[in-house]
Amino acid sequence: MSTVLVTGGTGFIGSHTVIALDKSGFDVVIADNLSNSKTEVLKRLHTICGKDFRFYKADCCKREELEPVFRENKIDAVIHFAGLKAVGESVSKPLEYYSNNINSLLTLVGLMKDYKVDELVFSSSATVYGESEDVPFTEESPLGMCTNPYGWTKWMQEQMLRDFSKAYPEFKIALLRYFNPVGAHESGLLGEDPRGIPNNLFPYISKVAGGTLEKLTIFGGDYDTEDGTCLRDYIHVMDLAEGHVKAINYLATNDTGINVFNLGTGKGTSVLEAVRAFEKACGHEINKEIGPRRPGDIAVSYASTEKAEKLLGFKATRTVEEMCSSCWNWQTKNPDGLPDDN
Ligand code: NAD
Ligand code: UD1
Repeated sequence: MSTVLVTGGTGFIGSHTVIALDKSGFDVVIADNLSNSKTEVLKRLHTICGKDFRFYKADCCKREELEPVFRENKIDAVIHFAGLKAVGESVSKPLEYYSNNINSLLTLVGLMKDYKVDELVFSSSATVYGESEDVPFTEESPLGMCTNPYGWTKWMQEQMLRDFSKAYPEFKIALLRYFNPVGAHESGLLGEDPRGIPNNLFPYISKVAGGTLEKLTIFGGDYDTEDGTCLRDYIHVMDLAEGHVKAINYLATNDTGINVFNLGTGKGTSVLEAVRAFEKACGHEINKEIGPRRPGDIAVSYASTEKAEKLLGFKATRTVEEMCSSCWNWQTKNPDGLPDDN
């Protein structure tokens, strides 16, 4: 049985990926410093998967905290989710973002080299494509100028991995560029649990639908799209999780080097369409108004999914309706998010 180290494994995408890996027969070890997640996630993973996963409370930037994971386990592959990801926060805390996201990757790859672990799946983002009207984005689309420090950290981490791949030919790396991950596990036990007021669309709609927030502001109704609101490629987090399993399988059976894959559905959904689908899922209207555009937003973003389909055999299957109903199920079962660690 292959053992996969999941850094950031108690976070939103990491925890759902742990479930998918376990279901596919992988042995999973989790490392997370709990800076943006809670130990309650481990209890919920136990309920869903019927077992405890080996967990290390470790900061991936600190070699002394991460090394025991490699020393005490025979790791075959790593999925590196650990990182800070809030776009707005990255603008006010660039030092923290560059320091955390860059150093965690440096420390991790250093340990992988020393312990001869050479398969790495990395969480990147469609944000690296920057502003372009040329959609869908293919993996060959030019990388753009990012509009915030978070985006630049992804851009830089990708470049670091391309350089590592040239210098250390034994490495097999998959860079996964996620489009817009949303939704929750079907059990309603796990989902996205943002701190404070959410910035992203689905968590915000969920809170308005649940009555914790008063009104959704739709950022811009005058874009050059059919209904005037932005189009995004929302992908169900369980589809995304399954994409990681495909990527791990791909690395195990393919040549060394670096490969980039978009993970999306290939379909653009407008903000208004997303709101309507959510209204259907929760059974009532969502209080909303059209406001000004949000700086940095692009009108349209969706993935070309051809490469992932062809090489990974990955195709997202869950619909926007399923994304909304799983979010709503998670919201109603956990109106205040997960309980805090004591
Ligand atoms: P998340 O914040 O829910 O999960 C990240 C986890 O990493 C958290 O549990 C946090 O505690 C942990 N972490 C952060 N820094 C760490 C460190 N130095 N050492 C150990 N653990 C650390 O975020 P997510 O939405 O699950 O995102 C996972 C990854 O995917 C991130 O790298 C993110 O940038 C990337 N990504 C996310 C999205 C999205 O929309 N959620 C889109 C594109 C890319
Ligand atoms: C954002 C980030 C991106 C990151 C991604 C993670 C920006 C500019 N981009 O992408 O770097 O990788 O999250 O998921 O922040 N919207 C509203 N009202 C709201 C919230 C959002 O109308 O209250 C709209 C936005 O204008 C956008 C769409 O909903 O058109 C999706 O927004 P969001 O969920 O924040 O994702 P992105 O902006 O695509």
